[in-house]
Amino acid sequence: MHLIKKKFIQFRENQITNQRLFLNRRKFILGLSGSIFFKNLNNIYANTKKNNFDKVVKKKLTSLENISKYNNFFEFGTTKQIWKQAQKLKIENWQIEISGSNISNKSVFLEDILDKVDIEERIYKFRCVEAWSMVVPWQGFQLSNLIKILDPKSDTKYVEFETFFKPNEANNQKQNWYPWPYREIITMDEAMHPLSFIATGVYGKPLPKQNGAPIRLVLPWKYGFKSIKSIVKIKFSNTKNKSFWQTIAPKEYGFWANVNPKVPHRRWSQEYEKDIETGNKYPTLLFNGYEEWVSSLYENINNNSIFY
Ligand code: MTE
Repeated sequence: MHLIKKKFIQFRENQITNQRLFLNRRKFILGLSGSIFFKNLNNIYANTKKNNFDKVVKKKLTSLENISKYNNFFEFGTTKQIWKQAQKLKIENWQIEISGSNISNKSVFLEDILDKVDIEERIYKFRCVEAWSMVVPWQGFQLSNLIKILDPKSDTKYVEFETFFKPNEANNQKQNWYPWPYREIITMDEAMHPLSFIATGVYGKPLPKQNGAPIRLVLPWKYGFKSIKSIVKIKFSNTKNKSFWQTIAPKEYGFWANVNPKVPHRRWSQEYEKDIETGNKYPTLLFNGYEEWVSSLYENINNNSIFY
């Protein structure tokens, strides 16, 4: 792949670290920190001009402690306690390769992308296919804003995302029976939907490494495995390639993975979910509660495959 040496915008000296860049951009939390920030979070969100998706979130925010100490990041291991191992990941000067459609292959610095988008906050419900859930205050930007900047051809059908492959930093990538790197694919319509979000932060801080630093996808109406972490490649394509989980277990993890309590996983029911903050069980909602906004994406697909 041809990598352009010049970044598409000049990178200023005072934007050297992601942390500082991030703080500069979070106009809405300037001056707030720790518990003060926590108390004001809902007000801050209520004042943002964006769509009022948070009306579906009727549960308490999950604490940063739980969000960052109960993870799935198979590159670092198969338990939920991988946060220490994930600290080995080097995230400085993060670059993302962009390819496909009419875009000439290039590698762009994350800082340069952040320079072109407005950072906002989204409080989203998050439902894992394993039937646990949480409520997360993400910071980041709408995926469609990035796609508009990249400007793929209008007839592009799919967007693919890939995570890093660094077995020296992510020990479980030495297990070569897994189809590394982690890959996810969504349709262009899904990618352009206003709910599709790229997170760079959580609770007003840069994303912890174990949560997919420095940049991950968040698709709140789909099972959590679609929300790919630590993205290093974005590819536009007209081929529906297979994701990481589809390759491993095609009968259990499909392409769409839209949350539906009525479609059980082959090994367990999806009717209820356990909130990792309170331990309480709640009935799972169709499209994780986001039906009003996303069902139109699937109205021309008239069978149950959209839930698999
Ligand atoms: N992305 C990568 N690269 N590797 C992973 O193992 N796990 C997925 C998703 N994204 C995963 C990933 C799954 S199964 C879930 S439920 C969520 O990340 C978990 O996100 P969290 O650890 O931030 O809660």
